Amino acid sequence: MESKRILTGDRPTGRMHIGHYFGSLKNRVEMQDEYETYIEIADVQALTDNFNNPEKVRKNVREVAIDYLSVGIDPEKSTIFIQSMIPEIAELTVFYSNLVTISRLERNPTVKTEIAQKKDLFGESVTYGFLGYPVSQAADITAFKGEIVPAGEDQEPLVEQCREIVRKFNSIYGEVLKEPKIHLSKQKRIKGLDGNEKMGKSLGNAIYLSDTPEEITKKVMSAVTDPNRIKKDDLGNPDICMVAYYHNLFTDKEDLKAVCEECKGGKRGCVACKKQLAQNIIDKLAPIREKRKYYEERPELVDKILIEGTNKARKIAKQTMREVKEAMELNYFE
Ligand code: TRP
Ligand code: SF4
Repeated sequence: MESKRILTGDRPTGRMHIGHYFGSLKNRVEMQDEYETYIEIADVQALTDNFNNPEKVRKNVREVAIDYLSVGIDPEKSTIFIQSMIPEIAELTVFYSNLVTISRLERNPTVKTEIAQKKDLFGESVTYGFLGYPVSQAADITAFKGEIVPAGEDQEPLVEQCREIVRKFNSIYGEVLKEPKIHLSKQKRIKGLDGNEKMGKSLGNAIYLSDTPEEITKKVMSAVTDPNRIKKDDLGNPDICMVAYYHNLFTDKEDLKAVCEECKGGKRGCVACKKQLAQNIIDKLAPIREKRKYYEERPELVDKILIEGTNKARKIAKQTMREVKEAMELNYFE
């Protein structure tokens, strides 16, 4: 039996952090052995809210590619490609735009939240491109007949919208497209070191896969701990401490038990506790840092992987386009 195809991707708007690692990258590395995996660097989608900053998007295409490779996404198993180099995606987006209403897009919860967060950029009226990015994401997925979309919860409304477009397309033009299913990662979204629900560069609360040991230590030392603990022998509550929260992710079971017990019993200093955590994070990310260095020193190899991945992906998108055009009676002179 042929294995199912995965289609997933990221907007290249910045380097990836440990939230991305636990939320999606780790999952993809595990799934690439079992599924035919396609991973899109969604530069066109990134431009929908960074149209005024093309150099940022361009720079991060390579950063994201290196992040992928450094966590163990293997170009022999996974196809990594660049969205803008697959014109069939843009073409499909135009065809699909007839199958979705403005009000349906405005009701998409993810889009709604994002528009509210981007008032500075969009002012009173959002762009046509941003409002329509779910249509373009539906094109991303269906151009490759992706059946499984491994992603976080925030992508659920986008995959749902894609499914609706697929159903509508197939009911009008015939069964050409595949309805994808989301594959949610088991790991819930990881909070920032300051306890914020969201991790991000502007918040300064994220550890990046590319951070040096010094940067990791510095960030961990500034993490938010139990505010009621002033002296070492004050009894602590690890449940409200971000250091304990991160120990959960990076510290082995035995040590973790000791962290919590000693904290509760007032037998552990926060500084030592943070140092231990920083070291564990540094150790855990060491293989990723090493691989990153390998690829950073070989930009021509990264280019080659992206070119080959994009060529391979394009072949599939072209085939889908042939079928779509035939179904839509746009196959003139054939
Ligand atoms: N919207 C996704 C994000 O912001 C990125 C993305 C683009 C994507 N195309 C996709 C995810 C297709 C899954 C499938 O992270
Ligand atoms: Fe947090 Fe550790 Fe301090 Fe307890 S001892 S409050 S777990 S940093």
